Amino acid sequence: MSKSYTRATFDEVMVPNYNPSEIIPERGEGSRVWDQNGNEYVDFAGGIAVSILGHKHPGMVKALKDQADKIWHLSNVFTNKPALELADKLTAATFADKVFFANSGGEANEAAFKLARRYAHDNFGPEKSEIISFSKSFHGRTLFTVCVGGQPKYTEGFEPLPGGILHTEYNNIDAFKELISDKTCAVVMEPIQGEGGIIPADPEFVKEVRELCDKHNALLVFDEVQTGFGRTGDLYAYMGMGVTPDILTTAKSMGGGFPIGAMITTSKIAASLVPGTHGSTYGGNPLGCAVSLAVLDAINTPEMMTTVKEQSAKIVKGLETIGEKYGVFSEVRGKGMLLGAVLSDEWKGKARKFLEAGWANGVMCLVAGADVVRLAPAATITDADIEDGLARLDKAIASLVA
Ligand SMILES: Cc1ncc(COP(=O)(O)O)c(C=O)c1O
Repeated sequence: MSKSYTRATFDEVMVPNYNPSEIIPERGEGSRVWDQNGNEYVDFAGGIAVSILGHKHPGMVKALKDQADKIWHLSNVFTNKPALELADKLTAATFADKVFFANSGGEANEAAFKLARRYAHDNFGPEKSEIISFSKSFHGRTLFTVCVGGQPKYTEGFEPLPGGILHTEYNNIDAFKELISDKTCAVVMEPIQGEGGIIPADPEFVKEVRELCDKHNALLVFDEVQTGFGRTGDLYAYMGMGVTPDILTTAKSMGGGFPIGAMITTSKIAASLVPGTHGSTYGGNPLGCAVSLAVLDAINTPEMMTTVKEQSAKIVKGLETIGEKYGVFSEVRGKGMLLGAVLSDEWKGKARKFLEAGWANGVMCLVAGADVVRLAPAATITDADIEDGLARLDKAIASLVA
């Protein structure tokens, strides 16, 4: 008899850094997922804001299969066509001239922060090395990226930590002015703080940060790992903000579920990463780039961006109705397919309970901290899936408040 694998196996054989659900999903199609017991779920989570085209998207499946029949891996001793084509299309679609491929958001940020330091070092000298970031921000789990992130719980116990990183309050321009100086090499921000609670940047704040970066020759780095690739209803969130960064990082939706990330920037800044200064064995892997090209082709159309906005409005309306009915949400915020339902005072700290009630009622959601239920559905989600998912969420919350 073949061995059966359950959640209990996780505790036996996996490092305990995650606490996954009892549910073991096995298969997905569009915005529906089935677990190994055959139970069906509406997917409002998309992994963690990853599956922008839903599951088993025909264009992505074809791209992966076609590339799998050609070549899987080359290393960066050679370049490859999918990587060149993806970089060509990404630069054509954005402010950037140059692309560095990575495998994840954390690695894309690691590259961005290293580049910012190196560029400042090359152009202004070693004194210009400070990085300013914001409290509650999240930029990844490597030691450098957790330190730039503004959540001290993720650096505790990992000391000694890299230095030269300062934190200040998000959306507080007076506090920011106190910190920025000619020693600042980069300012790093998420256009909408994701893990921190779906907190959008105030457009006026971002504009002033941009101006102060220019005044002090500091690079503005936008971490669009969560907001990028169509999630907010623009290919990148900066496009809807009237502010252009110097470096941008992208991952999650970029591969629609296949691990890939990138750092993009201008030729002038990119010039500091000369051969030998940085690299990645798998960065620019042909399979990942082929899949990402299929995602980009499907997502980067005016029709798709309109759909994101329209479907988002329906979900927001549904969440607001549920919030009023049960008194559980004080606010629904975010943009496009990155939404946060902020728990009312009575429910603060209990976001995980909403997640679990959702699972029990056939709907997958996310949390963003303990006070926010986060939704990150696919851009392709249908009206029927939205209605069904919201009805299941309504039932889940009814069971919670009962
Ligand atoms: C804004 C942001 N940056 C970076 C990361 C890290 O990405 P990854 O987990 O792919 O390393 C995340 C992941 O949640 C994120 O939301």
